[in-house]
Amino acid sequence: KQRFSVFASGTGSNFDAMMQDKKIASSIVLLVCDKPGAAVIKKAQGYGVETLVLEPKRYASKQEYEKVIAEKLQDLEVEWIFLAGYMRLIGETLLSQYEGRIVNIHPSLLPDFPGKDAIGQAYRAGVSKTGVTIHYVDEGMDTGPIIAQEEIERLPEETEEQLKTRIQAVEHRLYPNVINQLMQNVTEEL
Ligand code: GAR
Repeated sequence: KQRFSVFASGTGSNFDAMMQDKKIASSIVLLVCDKPGAAVIKKAQGYGVETLVLEPKRYASKQEYEKVIAEKLQDLEVEWIFLAGYMRLIGETLLSQYEGRIVNIHPSLLPDFPGKDAIGQAYRAGVSKTGVTIHYVDEGMDTGPIIAQEEIERLPEETEEQLKTRIQAVEHRLYPNVINQLMQNVTEEL
């Protein structure tokens, strides 16, 4: 069985969705959070998942910050990193250690609307459809090879909040499914 770490900065609804899947839950050994006080930390504690909470500004550089994370990941023999609302670029330290093993979820049809507030960006742009993307992480912001995408039609008269609710429902179904599929492929390659 593979060992996972989830990186998150906020509410943790995607982390929650992963923990609802027994197979995935039993693989998650660490939550990494860069925002002391984020709701996701309490969620992890409630599930008995170990947490590593850091404040990036306390470190001299991104490299120093990521070295602390990388050492913890190595101690716990983590093999895959799943970003779930981790609002920070992954740097060279983690990328080189986990090449091809870092995955991100983003609430738009990438390459459209990368970065922060993707749902609001798409809503204000008046698109007729948007969606969810799951992709491998590279050095860019929400770039990297796409693993899965699901489209969502924008409904007439829909508020941004309603659109967000529908997008997140797709995320909570899609991310666990994609993780399970990835792990099945890994097993078959062994
Ligand atoms: C999710 O919608 C995720 O796709 C997005 O942050 C939200 C986190 O929600 N990620 C990005 O925008 C990455 N650029 P959550 O904390 O409830 O899982």
